[in-house]
Amino acid sequence: MRGIILSGGSGTRLKPLTKITSKQLLPIYNRPMIYYPLNTLIKAGIKEIMIIVAPERAGDYLNLLGSGKEFGVKFTYEIQDKPEGLAQAFIIAENFIDEEDVAMILGDNIFEDDFSKEIKNFTGGAKIFAKQVPDPERFGVVKFSRDMQAEKIVEKPTKFLSDYAVTGLYVYDNRVIKVAQEIKPSSRGELEITDVNNWYLEKGELKVAMVKGEWLDAGTFDSLLKAQLFARDKLSDKMVI
Ligand code: G1P
Repeated sequence: MRGIILSGGSGTRLKPLTKITSKQLLPIYNRPMIYYPLNTLIKAGIKEIMIIVAPERAGDYLNLLGSGKEFGVKFTYEIQDKPEGLAQAFIIAENFIDEEDVAMILGDNIFEDDFSKEIKNFTGGAKIFAKQVPDPERFGVVKFSRDMQAEKIVEKPTKFLSDYAVTGLYVYDNRVIKVAQEIKPSSRGELEITDVNNWYLEKGELKVAMVKGEWLDAGTFDSLLKAQLFARDKLSDKMVI
């Protein structure tokens, strides 16, 4: 299994903090934000990790993370020139993924759960992780049938569909490269991970697991503050890096 951390974007909602560095390098209590998703991948036993970053900030990532030796893993870096969607990561990482399966996590997503079993036991298709939230319109959302079968996934629905948000951790088999190459950009000009997920769903090969613990995406001042307090009180002693 290969790992990808997608850490692009310009963090406009966090200006002026993001005028000097990337959002995903801002401090969350005593560690840079990206340490938390990195911790999730390393705990799951993933040894080869590609970090995809925005061009202006690439140097900051190299300075902070280096080769990966310090963490017992190997980092490869790539540039996402423009924020053209989460699914573009699989096109950028095509050679890196090679013939393997891949787990992708977003650089601003902080999870309490340990996903090592879910990732190690992955046997093919796609697996995503959902969590009930009070503000589903901000996310990709999973609509379930009465017997909790996933029926469809909709990106940022304007009309209420369900309050199960799709979180920023995704596991796919190798076909994801082809799928990402075939989907078309959405109206916001992005290759949507939701379209990738619906491709697997329509084939009956998408599994949706529930996130049990806390999940935070630290993209706003309030969620950043919440993440800091949560990291201090609940995560600090569970980190392996
Ligand atoms: C992205 C995905 C969305 C997902 C979210 C998780 O949203 O498009 O489906 O629920 O990450 O953080 P974006 O960050 O592009 O708004």
